[in-house]
Amino acid sequence: MCGIIGFAGNTEAVPILLDGLERLEYRGYDSAGVAVASPEGRLQVKKCKGRLGVLREALAAQKPLTGQVGIGHTRWATHGEPNDVNAHPHVSQSGKLAVVHNGIIENYLEIKQSLLHKGVVFASDTDTEVIVQLLEYYYKKSSNLMDAVYEVLNRIKGAYAMGILCSDFPEQLIAVRKDAPLLIGYGADGNYIASDVTALLAHTRTVTYMEDDEVAVVTADHVQILGRDGCFLEKEKHQIQWDVSAAEKGGYAHFMLKEIMEQPEAIRKTVSPRTIQPRLADGEIVFEELEDERDLMKGISRIYLVACGSAYHVGMIGKYALERLLGIPVEACLASEFRYSGPLLGESALVIVISQSGETLDSMAALREAKRRGSKVLSIVNVMGSSIARESDHVLYTWAGPEIAVATTKAYTTQTVLLLMLGVYLARRLDRIGNGEYQEIVRELHGLHERIGMVLKNLELYQKTVARYFNHDSVFYIGRNQDYALGMEGSLKLKEISYIHSESYAAGELKHGTISLIEPGTLVVALAAYEPLVEKMRSNIVEVRSRGAEVVAMTTEETRDMIGSQASEVFVIPKTHTLLQPVLGVVPLQLFAYYIALNRGCDIDKPRNLAKSVTVE
Ligand code: F6R
Repeated sequence: MCGIIGFAGNTEAVPILLDGLERLEYRGYDSAGVAVASPEGRLQVKKCKGRLGVLREALAAQKPLTGQVGIGHTRWATHGEPNDVNAHPHVSQSGKLAVVHNGIIENYLEIKQSLLHKGVVFASDTDTEVIVQLLEYYYKKSSNLMDAVYEVLNRIKGAYAMGILCSDFPEQLIAVRKDAPLLIGYGADGNYIASDVTALLAHTRTVTYMEDDEVAVVTADHVQILGRDGCFLEKEKHQIQWDVSAAEKGGYAHFMLKEIMEQPEAIRKTVSPRTIQPRLADGEIVFEELEDERDLMKGISRIYLVACGSAYHVGMIGKYALERLLGIPVEACLASEFRYSGPLLGESALVIVISQSGETLDSMAALREAKRRGSKVLSIVNVMGSSIARESDHVLYTWAGPEIAVATTKAYTTQTVLLLMLGVYLARRLDRIGNGEYQEIVRELHGLHERIGMVLKNLELYQKTVARYFNHDSVFYIGRNQDYALGMEGSLKLKEISYIHSESYAAGELKHGTISLIEPGTLVVALAAYEPLVEKMRSNIVEVRSRGAEVVAMTTEETRDMIGSQASEVFVIPKTHTLLQPVLGVVPLQLFAYYIALNRGCDIDKPRNLAKSVTVE
């Protein structure tokens, strides 16, 4: 979704802003713009509908925007169609103030009406323009910019991260946040604001995360952060571990393929610090993060796994696994539904929120609801210092590194492995798992990254196979138990990057209706890696084959013959402990979707209508 970058420094701002916006492109956007304050105090703005290239060309075709302080934005339209006028930055009527904004101002219509009555003329259809016009209104009244900023904050409702420029103070920019991420970066050539750390990695890895209701005044050599009451705050600086190359393509055609290929390393980094190597002694899963909470499960009689999209599919796998391991009810819930569905919260419920970005608004809202109603919240998050991480009682980080492609891959696999490890760890503490099975899982965890590497050696097979299928316009994924959950993810991957209609069904459910859609030539992706139900899956494959379906199957080495003999094509994955099998099983599905989208010429890293981090409800 929308991205913000801001710079106040000792060098020209425009190249820095454009570079930052380029690194934010992955979040998904439909227009982009920059505003720069000239040293003598003139705001210069350029904004265009379309890709960043359009903005670059427009800037190159005119007199350069000069100045060392500026703000930039990539917009993902919510209020008003994507066009030049609705793009950010938005400028006040006098041209003195410019604002970039992520989030939604809920009461913008009411404020707009009152400003219209006062004679303010609006240029755009956006909620954001209301902020800048209101700011000008208060600034004219008080002649004090900071007072005006606080007046605006008292008046607006909703979620926002903002960067503000004022021509009366051309050496500074102001940053504000509430319920939308914003951080400050400290660099050698100046200081930065950004909605996402990837925009800053080329310049600095020293950052401060802004909290809700904080206001920052940023100049080339100074950053002041103030609380809602206007008092100065001492804030901690953090060092980001990610490096620049992690957020670059490194020779791959797409970030998505690069991230698929990074999975062995991401799994190793997530698993190995949390497992003690089983050599002569017994192995062990260790969560240092939970050291202070040895009784995490005390009094807990149910678990909710709450997330959106792919992270919800991780939750579905977790439901099967954790329920079996812990012997208590475990429910996977869509975060967007959670708080409206009357969950049985309170002290006896543990809520596990799963999120790559740590900023997904629906997941955040579910977290707050859980805490408000007295439940403990543990989160599984990839982005350090993100809002969900900071508001949870406990955080387990996936060490996947920055994920740039909109379609998640390495975050999904690391979330899955971490959730499964948590389940096994808790089962051990509750004495609900036998030592034999526990030791086998710990051993298998150690070898998991190598097994993923084995699946990834077969890229050519996928490339070749997929060439036969890219013209289908509807694909069914079927599976049972954890393979059904895997099918949900495979189907979503295909839909989002190739735009092919696709559905995922529990294989046993087909016969209750959907089998009527199977006709000669229908493509069915049959997932048969869940050992206890492989034979039943074989029958389901025969069922759809006998109605003319073409079947691409996924199974393990052990059942290759049984399943392969029934399918036109079979992707074989190494065998591991049943519980961990989905971590390997998802890889062929990612590659299948990737090569289909490639064959169809789709914009794989930035699929239409999608955004990387969804910060609206
Ligand atoms: C799909 C995808 C999305 C995200 C979902 C949650 O490939 O990436 O479905 O999984 O938007 O995002 P996070 O994990 O950032 O909360």
